[in-house]
Amino acid sequence: MRSPLLSIPFIFLLLFVPLSFASKARHFKWEVGYVFWSPDCLENVMIGINGKFPGPTIRAKAGDTIVIELKNSLPTEGVVIHWHGIRQIGTPWADGTASISQCAINPEETFTYRFKVDKAGTYFYHGHYGMQRAAGLYGSLIVDVADGEQEPFHYDSDLTLLLSDWYHKNIYAQMVGLSSKPFRWIGEPQTLLINGRGQYDCSLAAHVIHGSTTCKTNTSQCAPTVLRLHPNKTYRLRIASTTSLSSLNLAIGKHKMMVVEADGNYVEPFLVDDMDIYSGESYSVLVTTDQDPSSNYWLTVGVRGRLPKTPPALAIINYLPNSPSKLPKIAPPITPTWNDYAHSKSFTYKILARQGTLRPPVNSDRQIALLNTQNKIDGYIKWSINNISLALPATPYLGSMKYRLKNAFDAKKPPEQFAANYDVMRPPINPNSTQGSNAYILDFNRTYDVILQNANALADNVSEIHPWHLHGHDFWVLGYGDGRFTNKDVSKFNLKNPPLRNTVVIFPYGWTAIRFVADNPGAWAFHCHIEPHLHMGMGVILAEGVELVGKIPNEALACGMTSKMLMNNHP
Ligand code: C2O
Ligand code: CU
Repeated sequence: MRSPLLSIPFIFLLLFVPLSFASKARHFKWEVGYVFWSPDCLENVMIGINGKFPGPTIRAKAGDTIVIELKNSLPTEGVVIHWHGIRQIGTPWADGTASISQCAINPEETFTYRFKVDKAGTYFYHGHYGMQRAAGLYGSLIVDVADGEQEPFHYDSDLTLLLSDWYHKNIYAQMVGLSSKPFRWIGEPQTLLINGRGQYDCSLAAHVIHGSTTCKTNTSQCAPTVLRLHPNKTYRLRIASTTSLSSLNLAIGKHKMMVVEADGNYVEPFLVDDMDIYSGESYSVLVTTDQDPSSNYWLTVGVRGRLPKTPPALAIINYLPNSPSKLPKIAPPITPTWNDYAHSKSFTYKILARQGTLRPPVNSDRQIALLNTQNKIDGYIKWSINNISLALPATPYLGSMKYRLKNAFDAKKPPEQFAANYDVMRPPINPNSTQGSNAYILDFNRTYDVILQNANALADNVSEIHPWHLHGHDFWVLGYGDGRFTNKDVSKFNLKNPPLRNTVVIFPYGWTAIRFVADNPGAWAFHCHIEPHLHMGMGVILAEGVELVGKIPNEALACGMTSKMLMNNHP
């Protein structure tokens, strides 16, 4: 029998230890494998986690350590998972980028990702090898404020909306097409998904309104997303986009949204009727359920920036205690016209840092200008940055840089500027380009400005949207402009309240300027988040302070030249 005297201090310990050591390690065991799944009611093969799509939501508190034992159960291909928006301070080998931060995990092997989530916010994770993200390898990662901390705004409860797009053609056929001559473009996705669910070839609205029978929601895997809300409450919607191609716009019938967070950083709150979300971005918006409570409402997600061949996705805003199948009184909101760029710019320009956000250094030490062009290499269509189309090497940069292995990647310094007379408004006069694995080696702790310059693609009068995402850092968005950037634009940079982000868009024929401090030792990808564009070479590698990187786990090095080094017991 237990002594009551002994158990009292024990209870005491139980109560107080977790409070005083609140940050904790959260352990997960995941198995990545193929699954039969019907994300849009049509059955297909996807890459799932623990037999499901999308992957499980990770929920943690700022300061926690996440430990994921990831087993690769894909029978014939490697895998890695990237934790998008997590800076991996001190753990660059856990960034989950194949050929950059680690070797792809071989079939039947396990890799343990261990990293700290240091900042509250809305994040997600996804495959970062080949085009595995487009095959469904993704999920949400939500970091709440640490115990005792408070968000700078009030809400009663939060909900997560992970947005994506879905192709019926498998990613292997997509990849082969993209690297074929003649080129075979993947086209537009068949369906937009909300929390991994959509309805192909049937408008949900039509289905509900007309009782259409083409909508065979015979599986719960494609059942419409329902947000069950109580009247007169304020909800935080955590919205993130991991689309392969599509830029999106989201609107809720009759409800305004107050934008409060972007990419894990607080922004100065502003009210909108609809909002754009580019691939790689995340936002939090506050929505107050102050409309007629006897009705339900529609939430619409539509395509921007490309002639939308993909129908909008719908979710139901269900005011409780109404039944979720009660028909909304008003039609789904219509998202803005796909090419209304003025509308998109006006939304994007409103995103400013919330008071109290860390300000950028007043001056930068270096400037790098990156020209984004569509090119031809030996007749194959590619995307290039300063005329180099990224081709990833066999040995991941992090290991080969840290151990100074020769010839692991192109050692030549990539260009930091592009030709002064390049006409960004016309197709390239000489579309020829080269493939390369060169890396930008940054001076540790220096402040860098990067000017992302958009241009005309190969076809006349075409310039596309590209959302650029930086690993390992947040950056300040100093400004945007139309046409070609000139050094006069520097005087217009916003140094007062530029938003901190990890993903930023460049508009057609425009430029975007960002600033960051190269203070996180590691090798980091910086790339267009459109999956086929990255696959076609649209990215660069930035590295800084690699000599300061701690012990890289051997499992991250077990390929290419670093594996030979391990066999010789070198490190
Ligand atoms: Cu979300 Cu390098 O990507
Ligand atoms: Cu792109």
